[in-house]
Amino acid sequence: MLDMPVEAEPIIRLMTRLVGTGPALGTTATPITTKRLRIDLPTEAAAHSLFAMTYGPGGQSVTSKLLWNGPIDLNEMAAWCQKYGSNEFNDGGHHWVISQRDDFSRSRPVVMGAIGLTPGDQAGLASLGYWSGEAFWNQGFMTEAVGAVVSHGFDVLNVARIEACTFLTNPASAAVLKKAGFGSEGVRRESAYKYGEWIDQTVWAALRTDQEN
Ligand SMILES: CC(C)(COP(=O)(O)OP(=O)(O)OC[C@H]1O[C@@H](n2cnc3c(N)ncnc32)[C@H](O)[C@@H]1OP(=O)(O)O)[C@@H](O)C(=O)NCCC(=O)NCCS
Repeated sequence: MLDMPVEAEPIIRLMTRLVGTGPALGTTATPITTKRLRIDLPTEAAAHSLFAMTYGPGGQSVTSKLLWNGPIDLNEMAAWCQKYGSNEFNDGGHHWVISQRDDFSRSRPVVMGAIGLTPGDQAGLASLGYWSGEAFWNQGFMTEAVGAVVSHGFDVLNVARIEACTFLTNPASAAVLKKAGFGSEGVRRESAYKYGEWIDQTVWAALRTDQEN
């Protein structure tokens, strides 16, 4: 039996849902870095940029492709950054901010978007979600971020399967997943409700065993 303070138990239970028996209990092992990107826990300073990219009609190029309709106000975005900016794993998932790596030494690195892995129905299963601001699209950034986060999921968090869903009307996201090695598993009809309509989504998955073979 692990000798742990009583208050630590729920956190360990949540983590275990995502990572199974993996080695990463109690750590995010972040930042994750790639050639051009730094993927790390949200900071308070990131809230303004994340808000500017997703708020209101101006943010709809991003939020129209997400289940999330964007923040109601800056306070909501700041609260999200604060909630996931620590190692407390409030919902058992990992929620990270994507920044340009070269800029990180500056006092205000360029924040590009967000990416996360949340627990599936069983230990070892995870769902992937991501978005970036329109200024950063079509330069291969999200493919780079997804590749790194998927490797992190398999290698560090010991996840066996990572699933993602894209609206049928989102070919850019489908392209990202294909380039990152995900396979399409079919369409879940009317599985998302957005702007007053039920819409179809494609289910995508990447398996650790596929990468090993
Ligand atoms: C989807 C999203 C994350 C892509 O990010 P990105 O940094 O532009 O992705 P990449 O540059 O790595 O790859 C984009 C690919 O989509 C392709 N693409 C872009 N628009 C397209 C379109 N209308 N039709 C077909 N392909 C398209 C690009 O050509 C590129 O593929 P290529 O490298 O083979 O040419 C970004 O557009 C976004 O945040 N959109 C809004 C939120 C969202 O959709 N999140 C995902 C929800 S599942």
